[in-house]
Amino acid sequence: MTSEAKKPTVLITGAGIGIGKATAFAFGKAGYHVVVTDVLAAEGEAVAAGIVAAGGAAQFAPLDVRSTEEADALVACLNAQFGALDCIVANAGIAHKVPLEQLTDAKWDETFEIDLKGMIRVLRPALGAMKARKAGAIVCISSIMGIAYGWDQHVHYSAAKSGVVGLIRGLAVELARSGIRVNGIAPGYIRTAQLLSEQHSLGPQGAAKAGEFIPMGRIGEPEEIADVVLFLASHAARYMTGQIVVVDGGLLVGRY
Ligand SMILES: NC(=O)c1ccc[n+]([C@@H]2O[C@H](COP(=O)([O-])OP(=O)(O)OC[C@H]3O[C@@H](n4cnc5c(N)ncnc54)[C@H](O)[C@@H]3O)[C@@H](O)[C@H]2O)c1
Repeated sequence: MTSEAKKPTVLITGAGIGIGKATAFAFGKAGYHVVVTDVLAAEGEAVAAGIVAAGGAAQFAPLDVRSTEEADALVACLNAQFGALDCIVANAGIAHKVPLEQLTDAKWDETFEIDLKGMIRVLRPALGAMKARKAGAIVCISSIMGIAYGWDQHVHYSAAKSGVVGLIRGLAVELARSGIRVNGIAPGYIRTAQLLSEQHSLGPQGAAKAGEFIPMGRIGEPEEIADVVLFLASHAARYMTGQIVVVDGGLLVGRY
């Protein structure tokens, strides 16, 4: 573990694989001290070690975003370590395929606990210290399925991801005068374990086929989301708040 007080700090949820992992590496390269969190301990440890091996600063902390106690304890510890977090990337999410007939309260709640409530759990304990410093950047990952498309057999996911949009907008307005900016990204089809799952999403063949109707001719890479997260967290985005940036290779504007 490397800790350098002068570096800006970022906490990223679900950073062991996929978009979160790419985002962790992007922030590490940009000079942040990266707090890599995930339920996947081995993967998260490896990401933190990879950032350090590349000359950056990082630490791994286990965090299940379904636990308020874990989130509160971790953020309190980080506030004590760093004063306040400069940035939080609320990325952790699941997208289980559940046909309507099987969409029980438990399946619905499982997705909402992680994809929506999991975000406020991590943000809430960090806001006091951010407010005291009058600075902070929050980036939440929604989806094109939350802002534009309906997704069959993923009604709970679409609903949770739409909820993320409301979370971003409400927080953005409430926190604007505290110097805290809150923005989001709606990724299109991005090459991760989630998308490549045959059971829950497009699978490898579906991913290849998606390239045929995406205007840019291919699905996206996790790094192509990570770079936009980094931009939204940066000084370059200082007058942006409450926005959801679509990063989809032209999918939403090009499909007709
Ligand atoms: N891949 C895409 O095409 C796509 C498109 C739109 C939105 N998204 C969103 O991007 C985010 C990242 O997805 P991804 O594609 O990298 O998926 P992924 O499955 O590769 O990664 C998801 C991460 O979330 C973590 N996670 C799951 N449950 C957790 C919990 N309870 N607590 C903490 N972490 C938990 C996983 O361990 C994993 O690290 C998600 O919010 C997802 O919904 C992805």
